Amino acid sequence: VDTPTLGHLRIRPRTSLGVSSDGTIRFIKPESKNPLQDAQDFDKSLNSWEITVVDTLERQGSTFFFPGFIDTHVHASQYPNAGIFGSSTLLDWLEKYTFPLEAGLKDLESARKIYDRVLDKTLAHGTTTASYYTTIDADSSNLMAEICAKRGQRAFIGKVCMDQNSPEYYIETLSECQHSLQKVVNYIRNDLKDDKIKPIVTPRFAPTCSSDLMAWLGKTASEQELHIQTHLSENKKELKWVGELFPDSDSYTHVYDAHNLLTDKTVLAHCIHLSDEELELIKERKSGVSHCPISNSSITSGECQVRRFLDHNIKVGLGTDLSGGFDVSILCTARQALLVSRHLAMKEHDTERQEHIKLSVNDVLYLSTFGGAEVMDMDLQVGSFEVGKQFDTQLIDLESADSRVDVFEWQHAKWDKEDQDEANKGLFEDLLAKWLFTGDDRNTIRVWVAGKQVFPSLCS
Ligand code: GUN
Ligand code: FE
Repeated sequence: VDTPTLGHLRIRPRTSLGVSSDGTIRFIKPESKNPLQDAQDFDKSLNSWEITVVDTLERQGSTFFFPGFIDTHVHASQYPNAGIFGSSTLLDWLEKYTFPLEAGLKDLESARKIYDRVLDKTLAHGTTTASYYTTIDADSSNLMAEICAKRGQRAFIGKVCMDQNSPEYYIETLSECQHSLQKVVNYIRNDLKDDKIKPIVTPRFAPTCSSDLMAWLGKTASEQELHIQTHLSENKKELKWVGELFPDSDSYTHVYDAHNLLTDKTVLAHCIHLSDEELELIKERKSGVSHCPISNSSITSGECQVRRFLDHNIKVGLGTDLSGGFDVSILCTARQALLVSRHLAMKEHDTERQEHIKLSVNDVLYLSTFGGAEVMDMDLQVGSFEVGKQFDTQLIDLESADSRVDVFEWQHAKWDKEDQDEANKGLFEDLLAKWLFTGDDRNTIRVWVAGKQVFPSLCS
C-alpha cells in the first residue's frame, strides 16, 4: 500500500516485491503465487537459502507494507521537553524551555542518552527518514550522525547556526559557527561515509542569524551542494521582529532569498503567515514546506493553509517539530494535519471551498511519505514502492498484540478473489482510516531502511 499521488491510495494485493541486499527494489510482481519462486525467476542464480521471505498474509487482510514515514522537521535535542510548553508562545518558549535544554547537550553523555532515545522512538514509530536539528555544538552533532548511522536511519543532521539575539550561554560567533559547521560536514562526508546520512545547513531562523552568517551559509550550501533547513513565518511576533531586523526586505521570505537560502534543497518549517508574493517566491525557488500541525497548535502559532501550497504545486511534507510538537509520531502528526485542515474549513463560508480545504486520510498519508520524499530527497529514492527505489518500509499490523485498533470480522478485505478487488479496496480504505485515527506504534511491527531491518533492532 502506498500513495504515489496526492489523494490516492495504491493497493496492490497478491503482489510480491523483491529487494536485493543493497536495499534496492528489484521487482514488483502482481498475482504472485510464490514469492520465493518469484525471486528465483528474477535471478536464476539465487539459491533458496539466500532469500528471506516476509509474508504479510500470515494475518489475512490487516497486515500490509507501507512506505516508511518521513519527518521533515524534528529537533532531536528537544526530545526531553516533549509535552512541556505550558502557555508559552514561540519567542518566550525558546528562552524559557528550549535554549537551556539545547545548551546542556554540549555534554556528550547527556547528548548520547537523548539521541539514543530519539532513535529508539522514531524507528519504533516507523520514521525511516528524518531531518534533524541538533544544537550549535559540533561534537554532539557528529555523535548524532554516528548514532543514526549505527541504528540505520536515513537522516539529515543539522548543526544549528546562530550568532545573534541568543543568550550568551548559547551562541557562536560567525567564525566559530563557520568552523563548527565545516567540522560536521567534513565528519559526515569524509569520516562517517554512510550515504544515508547527510549534513544539512541549518540557520535557526532569521532573528538569530546575522546577515553575514546567512550569506556565508547560502554560499557554502551552494558550493558544497548541501541541503538547507530553517523556520519561516511561524509566529506573528517573530514576523514583526524580522521586519524590524531586516527593514530593507520585502518580507520574511525575501530575507532568506536575499542570502541565497531558498533553493530546491531547502526545507521551510511552518510557513503559516505568508503573502501570495512569498508563496510565489517559494514556488519559483522550488523550495519545500514542512507542515508542523502539532507544534503550530501547541504553541499557538497558527493554522497553516496546506491546501494553498498544494494548489500551487509547492512540495509539502510533515514535521513533528519536537518539542514545539509533543509527539514523535508522524502518524499522529498526519492525524493532526487532517484536523487542522478541518478547522480551517469551518472558517470558510463557501461550501465548495470548505470541501476543498479539508485534507483527506489519503492526502495526509501522502504528505507523510511521498510528500516528505519530494521535500527532502532530490532523487526520490524513497516515499513509495517502485522498482529501482530503496526499500524503506514499515510492516503494519492492525491486529497486533494489544493494538488499539478494533477490526471486526466483516471489515476484513479478503484478497483471494480478483473480481472482488474493487469492493475490497473500499473496505481497506476504511481500515487505513482506522489506522490513522486509532492506531499507534503498536501497529508498526517491523521497519526496514534500505532493506535492512532497523526495528525491532537487530543490534545489541
Ligand atoms: N524558531 C526558532 N527556533 C525554533 C525551534 O526550536 N522550534 C520552533 N518550532 N521554532 C523555532
Ligand atoms: Fe522547529
